[in-house]
Amino acid sequence: MKQNILQLTYTLQTIDTAVKQFWETLNKHTVFAFSGEMGAGKTTFIHHLCDYLSVEDAVSSPTFALVNEYHFEEKDRDSIIYHMDWYRLKSEGEAISAGMEDYLVQACKMQVRCFIEWPEKAIGILPSTYVLIEIHATDMHERYMNIFLIG
Ligand SMILES: Nc1ncnc2c1ncn2[C@@H]1O[C@H](COP(=O)(O)OP(=O)(O)O)[C@@H](O)[C@H]1O
Ligand SMILES: [Mg+2]
Repeated sequence: MKQNILQLTYTLQTIDTAVKQFWETLNKHTVFAFSGEMGAGKTTFIHHLCDYLSVEDAVSSPTFALVNEYHFEEKDRDSIIYHMDWYRLKSEGEAISAGMEDYLVQACKMQVRCFIEWPEKAIGILPSTYVLIEIHATDMHERYMNIFLIG
């Protein structure tokens, strides 16, 4: 099932309002797949979202490491985020060999949030339920986000 749950339009001036609305609507979910072409704004949105959550660690594109781990405080407890970038992966097999499926299985068990860039590289290893975020550049400064609940 693919259920449309939220749409957001924002510029870099209004991105923090979009981030707030995003998290207020979706914070109960665990796996977030950010889909959109190069330069669509996946990393930028995740960066602002991590700032909004007061993530303690430096947020950067995990293109080479595949996974960055961040921590933030949520209801007086330590919460973990895995920020993944699958751009360099060529297939689902390669994603599995690189341990991405293990990360996801663990994350779902422990409620570790996963923010995944380029999820289409290994869409088959995503859990049965996840949030799909499609980002489109409407012009140089504006982005349109269409958000679905899958599963
Ligand atoms: N509204 C916007 N949201 C996100 N990025 C924007 C926006 N307007 C312009 N940009 C620019 O677009 C680029 C997005 O890059 P990035 O977030 O790295 O994309 P991706 O991770 O999808 O490849 C950045 O240079 C950013 O400054
Ligand atoms: Mg990126």
